[in-house]
Amino acid sequence: MKIFLDTANLEEIRKGVEWGIVDGVTTNPTLIAREKVPFKERIKEICDLVKGPVSAEVTALDWRGMVKEARELAKLDEHVVIKIPLTPDGIRAIKVLSSEGIRTNATLVFSPMQAVLAAKAGATYVSPFIGRVDDVSSDGLKMLEEIVVIFGNYSFEAEIIAASIRHPMHVLEAALMGVDIVTMPFSVLEKLFKHPLTDIGIERFTKDWERYKETMGR
Ligand code: G3P
Repeated sequence: MKIFLDTANLEEIRKGVEWGIVDGVTTNPTLIAREKVPFKERIKEICDLVKGPVSAEVTALDWRGMVKEARELAKLDEHVVIKIPLTPDGIRAIKVLSSEGIRTNATLVFSPMQAVLAAKAGATYVSPFIGRVDDVSSDGLKMLEEIVVIFGNYSFEAEIIAASIRHPMHVLEAALMGVDIVTMPFSVLEKLFKHPLTDIGIERFTKDWERYKETMGR
């Protein structure tokens, strides 16, 4: 399972990269806007840090505009992947870009059949949004599972990125399904480390070691 960070914050990305467990980064217009920095510069900075796939999203809504933006973004760095929303224009743009060898990540995917359209158009990655489906009282994990089954049925090449991850159980369930990639906020990645028994264990070992050293010192 590859772990991507869903953030445009350099400090978070640096920490994750230093731990050695971050394979890539996904961004979106909201995450970039939160940082209040120039878009392209930030994408380049992220690429330099992570040295793996970095998704940068187009903002045009027509396919010609999407393709134009995508070509510009792709020039920034070899690691740039173009995030394209799942609309008819988006699918057309994905088809054009994939024929040019530009990698794409179909975003705002909320149903298995949308995921199929993206795979058929030649998307490199397909990003179903788990949390946002849960938000409207539907079952994001069920959608994800259906996509995994369908992609297996037809041996689609597109990799699935479980996105809009809200908590560690989303990550666990995606891992049990064998999803290729999970992109998560830094706060969720931090939570994956946590277990009360780890903290208790460290406290006990440290105390026992101190006592042992005292005894041996006598
Ligand atoms: O990057 C796309 C996706 O992960 C957004 O998640 O938390 O805004 O639903 P969220």
